[in-house]
Amino acid sequence: MARRQRIGVMTAGGDCPGLNAAIRAVALAGHRLHNWEVIGILDGYEGLMKGATMELGPAEARGLLHLGGTRLGSANRMNPFLCRFGAEGEMDCSPLVFKQVEALGLDALIVIGGDGTLTIARMLYDQGLPLVGIPKTIDNDINGTDTSIGFRTAVFIATEALDRLHTTAESHHRVMVLEVMGRNAGWIAAEAGVAGGADVILIPEIPFDLDAVQAKIVDRNASGSRFTIIVVAEGARPKPRASWERPTGPRRIGDAVAEALQAANGLETRVTVLGHLQRGGSPLSFDRILASRFGVAAVELVAREAFGQMVALRGREVRSIPLSEAVATPKLVDPQGELVRTAEALGISFGR
Ligand code: F6P
Repeated sequence: MARRQRIGVMTAGGDCPGLNAAIRAVALAGHRLHNWEVIGILDGYEGLMKGATMELGPAEARGLLHLGGTRLGSANRMNPFLCRFGAEGEMDCSPLVFKQVEALGLDALIVIGGDGTLTIARMLYDQGLPLVGIPKTIDNDINGTDTSIGFRTAVFIATEALDRLHTTAESHHRVMVLEVMGRNAGWIAAEAGVAGGADVILIPEIPFDLDAVQAKIVDRNASGSRFTIIVVAEGARPKPRASWERPTGPRRIGDAVAEALQAANGLETRVTVLGHLQRGGSPLSFDRILASRFGVAAVELVAREAFGQMVALRGREVRSIPLSEAVATPKLVDPQGELVRTAEALGISFGR
């Protein structure tokens, strides 16, 4: 009798809503379609190097669909190609990965991750590890896929926050600054800003001029709208040599912008940093469905031995693209693109 295939699945990097739905899909489809033994690798690459695993059969997959976080755990800062050993500095421990994969008897690996995790996966694949990738990140900055797991839920949470800020801003005639995540990409800020009716959206892709933001607030007040809602992506930055420059030091951009605006116009200004609320909790139905489709598609890639690929959403279809293409360059908001043009047509300022 042929040996049952053993497939590992792992999550690494920052968590997001929908990871458990993807893990569940891999476990169920692997078992139901191919009778594989699916093994969960615990805590990302750290667990892979230690051989830390759990069984992931249909029983273990039960109850995961709607749960936030990751049942498998994650470890953010572990890169097997750059292991840190105290004073000894960094060294390449990737051979440990190959040793453990062999010891665990894994025939293939499904890696659920963002750009950092998938870049490492690509390097491991280049060295001969049979694996496929599933894109997840609230930042939505992975190339080649319309959307990554977690993004839609994060946009929903940020939009809800904007709705709530709206009512209190209006009551108190205040300027409200909402800082959202996204690292070097402005997707959450741009989409939530449009969905939540923001007046100003500041994103890394469009360096801003604080004078333009200030002018927008003045205009609104002059027209009788005595409050302003500003969404700031955490990676937003002012134009070089603009009249206002971000103060140096660890201050958050949302705080720095709010303080400068209040100093300039005397209007009461408040800041909300949404932070990890964007990453926690249950996924929206969109992310549950996307994660389920990606999980099943990844299983099918492994079954076809189409290694070195990442599943991707293109329009309505789930396809696959080479991991090398997915991690080559981050997907950023196009400053001249349709989303930004739509926002500007609606009167939203990007501070340019
Ligand atoms: O990449 C996802 C993300 O949530 C970014 O938006 C954010 O900059 C970062 O991770 C936060 O990382 P940590 O959880 O390590 O603070």
